[in-house]
Amino acid sequence: MGRNLIMLGMAILVMTLITFIIAGFMSGISNPLAWLSLVSLIIVIVGHNKLVKRRYLIWKDSYSVGIESIDNDHKKLIHLINNLQTAIDFKTDVNFEKQTLDEVINYTQYHFTREEGLMEDNGYPEFEPHKATHKKMIDQVNELVQAYEKGEDGAIESLLTFLKTWLIKHINGTDQEYSEYLISKGVK
Ligand SMILES: [Fe+2]
Ligand SMILES: [Fe+2]
Repeated sequence: MGRNLIMLGMAILVMTLITFIIAGFMSGISNPLAWLSLVSLIIVIVGHNKLVKRRYLIWKDSYSVGIESIDNDHKKLIHLINNLQTAIDFKTDVNFEKQTLDEVINYTQYHFTREEGLMEDNGYPEFEPHKATHKKMIDQVNELVQAYEKGEDGAIESLLTFLKTWLIKHINGTDQEYSEYLISKGVK
């Protein structure tokens, strides 16, 4: 509901500014109100685009764990989470929203299985605690999904925020810890 009101406010503001621009320039090219409205419209559009872009995750080289298959999984997860952000931002059809959410969750589970396999096969000493953080994450996601399926207000936004925050924190923290060990075992 909050985001709907913001979007309605933006639409009214943009329409008002366009009306002032057209009416102002029709009364004369030097009309200061027309120029002021034009500059305001540009500021509103540029500011809005910057705010929208800030909500999307961007891969950084510092996220790399030095193992190509894992980095590719993490990049794909970022891409899938951004798809969910797009589905929410553009208020797409609910089926598309559910589809993008399912893709994030399914790929997260697929990725965890791959990561856990590499850790277990190579005798990583912190395998069990790492696996436990994955399980805890899936449990938390399942709780949020239940709220979403019950139609609770803001549930999809809470899910998205959780996925974004958890993923970046995990890639930059817990996943970095196995990097040196697995590379020393010849994992690429
Ligand atoms: Fe992990
Ligand atoms: Fe990971």
